[in-house]
Amino acid sequence: MERLTGLMRGLALAAVAAVAAWPGAAIAQQEVKIGYALAAAPDSHYGVAAAKWQEVVEAGTDGRYTFRHFPSSGLGGEREVIEGVQLGTIEATIVSSGTLSNFVPDTGVFDIPFLFRDLQHARAVLDGPIGQEILEKFDQVGLVALAWGEQGFRHITNNRNAIATPEDIAGLKLRTMENPTHITAFETLGAAPTPMAWPEVISALQQGTIDGQENPLSVITSAKLSEVQEYLTLSGHVYSPAMLLVSKQLWDQMSPEDQQVFRDGAAQGVAAMRAFVDDVEKTGAEKLREEGMEIGELSAEQKAAFQEALGAAYEQYYQTYSKELIDRIIATE
Ligand code: PAF
Repeated sequence: MERLTGLMRGLALAAVAAVAAWPGAAIAQQEVKIGYALAAAPDSHYGVAAAKWQEVVEAGTDGRYTFRHFPSSGLGGEREVIEGVQLGTIEATIVSSGTLSNFVPDTGVFDIPFLFRDLQHARAVLDGPIGQEILEKFDQVGLVALAWGEQGFRHITNNRNAIATPEDIAGLKLRTMENPTHITAFETLGAAPTPMAWPEVISALQQGTIDGQENPLSVITSAKLSEVQEYLTLSGHVYSPAMLLVSKQLWDQMSPEDQQVFRDGAAQGVAAMRAFVDDVEKTGAEKLREEGMEIGELSAEQKAAFQEALGAAYEQYYQTYSKELIDRIIATE
């Protein structure tokens, strides 16, 4: 009996030592608060990505990690949410590139207008060495960037007039993201860019304090912008990436196995997000036309006129980001 008690004490001590050696092992259950700007699944590309991420993580960790969703900016604007993830008060998020360059400046290179030829080009760059190098830089600002997601190409909506030439946006009060690369572009084109956090945009459009905004079809449809905007110009002026982030505090307490499950879940979330975007790129414009929007699409020549009008902005971009980096992006197949 005495030998048995000794053995049990030994086992208990070994278990305590194992827990002390690996803090993650002590976690019975951890809630992962995930915040994002648009509707929960299945009504937005953010929602479907977050739901897939959750499914993979909850299954792969036998429910030790459970996700709690805060869709539709339930935890605030994207900048606030990223700061929350940095502090560890929010565990995960999926965000646009809107404010990311304020955290890792190189991220802004992807926000250069007309940089990417098409979705395949953008995905090849983001999934390849350039995209991965930039993800790794988030480590230096206390964030763990697991993967690049996507929103699609951005288009302009407004209530003032149809747009076919750069002159058509002269003086247009256009909400932009709080993104220096975008602001420079619209200033150069002669619009009146008004940077604003997303949660304020719908009411600003309703009240007429801004004439328009720009976002991909995924956002225009999910946020029901046809209810507050008359004209849609399929300008495809810039690609809009997204990013899946988790807090370093959460990451550092996980075992390498659980970290791998989070990585796999993020990769599958991205696949679901891109499938949603592929679909809405095909069907979104027709849906918006049926909902009453007046839609025009820039031809290749009209896009070229916008690119030419952006000349001074491109000079600034070459000063901000290295020419070598921009050339590597353009050369990616
Ligand atoms: O325009 C923005 O701020 C973003 O595209 C949005 C709508 C918040 C989605 O991330």
